[in-house]
Amino acid sequence: MKTRITELFGIEHPIIQGGMHYVGFAELAAAVSNAGGLGIITGLTQKTPGDLANEIARCHDMTDKPFGVNITFLPIVQSPDYPGYVKAIVDGGVKVVETAGNNPQEYLPALKDAGVKVIHKCTAVRHALKAQRIGCDAVSVDGFECGGHPGEDDIPNMILLPRAADELEIPFVSSGGMADARSLVASLAMGAEGMNMGTRFIATREAPVHENVKQAIVDASELDTRLIMRPLRNTERVLTNPAVERLLAKEKELGENLGFGDIMDEVAGVYPRIMSEGDMDAGAWSCGMVAGLIHDIPTCKELIDRIMSEAETLISSRLGNVLQN
Ligand SMILES: Cc1cc2nc3c(=O)[nH]c(=O)nc-3n(C[C@H](O)[C@H](O)[C@H](O)COP(=O)(O)O)c2cc1C
Repeated sequence: MKTRITELFGIEHPIIQGGMHYVGFAELAAAVSNAGGLGIITGLTQKTPGDLANEIARCHDMTDKPFGVNITFLPIVQSPDYPGYVKAIVDGGVKVVETAGNNPQEYLPALKDAGVKVIHKCTAVRHALKAQRIGCDAVSVDGFECGGHPGEDDIPNMILLPRAADELEIPFVSSGGMADARSLVASLAMGAEGMNMGTRFIATREAPVHENVKQAIVDASELDTRLIMRPLRNTERVLTNPAVERLLAKEKELGENLGFGDIMDEVAGVYPRIMSEGDMDAGAWSCGMVAGLIHDIPTCKELIDRIMSEAETLISSRLGNVLQN
């Protein structure tokens, strides 16, 4: 399958693995890229730019195919060393960056001068248009279904994708709620040039997370996610567990008086305990509604091959047949 996204990134299949905190290590990025998609290392999971440089080098050892790095621009006062992370990316010869969170404009010149293609992840058409205006090469349009931060507009992909198609000139991929060939074909029909998946890629053999995390996704249904931190305008979709229910009870009780300090126990520093140690009740962790469509733990290659072959059948047989009847 050839789209503007496969051409832009030099990949075989229009499937991207989104950056994921404590999941997007070199093992997963390389497995996705080796399977013909675009794997992405999560920059900020690496504590320093030097650690990111090492992770990029490890990924180069595991694949000759293109892979990317995610840089998430966080809404916090004490920023990580973003210039250092950008330098590690450029010096490491990475050719694709997925930006997310705040506006990446300040770092675009350094990336563009080094020939890095930038795909910005956004949850609103106005943000996608801004990304286009400041010179991003593509956008990842993240609907309300998504695991992680869906923004505050709550527009699901059935509306958001065609809206993006109506407005954008640069290519975009769908993101949020994507799991299989049906997701890919529907995304293409709505004007996207590929799809980005997060939660689906956690439940793969190569994802370097504890088996408990993969099993929790397989066991979950589409009813099992919750939105947290809404009162802080930093909404996150997470899988429910006792820590999340405790957090939501605090939100209800404190209302507008809720501060980040009130929920530290449930959100701060919990990712290593969940993802590496498999302590599933340690706190809140991002997970999409798409868990309801995930029933197995294949290799990345099995997953991507299955999506591509079923997508071909869907397009040529099911949709083709509809036309003939
Ligand atoms: C566990 C987890 C951690 C994530 N961490 C990040 C992150 O650090 N930066 C980022 O830009 N997106 C992050 N995301 C969002 C994903 O990149 C992707 O946009 C999202 O998962 C898409 O929705 P889906 O889960 O329905 O596929 C995370 C998602 C999950 C599930």
